[in-house]
Amino acid sequence: MNQLCIAPDAESLAEAAAARVVAIASEAIAQRGRFVLALAGGSTPRTTYRLLARAGQGAIDWSSVELFFGDERCVPPDDRDSNYRMAREELIDSVGLPADRVHRIKGEIRPQEAAASYEKELRDVLGENGRFDLILLGLGADGHTASLFPGAEAVGEKARDAVAVYVEKLDAWRVTLTLPIINQARHVIFLVSGAAKADALARVEAGEDLPAAMVQPATGTLTWLVDREAAGDV
Ligand code: 6PG
Repeated sequence: MNQLCIAPDAESLAEAAAARVVAIASEAIAQRGRFVLALAGGSTPRTTYRLLARAGQGAIDWSSVELFFGDERCVPPDDRDSNYRMAREELIDSVGLPADRVHRIKGEIRPQEAAASYEKELRDVLGENGRFDLILLGLGADGHTASLFPGAEAVGEKARDAVAVYVEKLDAWRVTLTLPIINQARHVIFLVSGAAKADALARVEAGEDLPAAMVQPATGTLTWLVDREAAGDV
């Protein structure tokens, strides 16, 4: 792990995460005129997104942001399981992001089509050898990240930037960014909260071959922002 930061609790974890997003956004916009961000799904990032929404335009010039998603459940955008819906409720609607800057994964269409369309949109915005300025990721209790689950073929994907994956244990389709595009990012931040993640975090720290442990940015920074409960004995 390039940098492990342990916050006392979930709230301070979210505060630390929001502060880092603001700092990276300011640097990206100052240096390159835009901030290309991929949001993590799941429930952990919710408070961070709410804090970013509260900070508003004073913290980040949202008109200079291109917003993507690390993964999506293959459900309609208004489904309660949709990562897009959570981000829309907690952040997007509050900061007035122009619709053409929000690049959601179309969970309502066939997964393979959604992955192909997302990959094209991503390459159009990033450019051929483009890279994300920041990718936020979560950690599953089994060591998955985004929708890259242990043993899945998608974990070994080398060519595509986004693929459709059928997750056996969830009996559900997902679309996810792949490791090559994740590892090209300028900055990657994991947000990990709660005792339920302590085992997976310890396994990543021990170097086990888990998808989350394969996030090793080639030249970018990697930060693990965890709370005390998730840190356990790490
Ligand atoms: C998803 C996420 C997934 C998530 C982890 C942690 O769509 O569910 O991309 O990788 O980040 O499963 O989820 P929680 O934050 O809900 O524990």
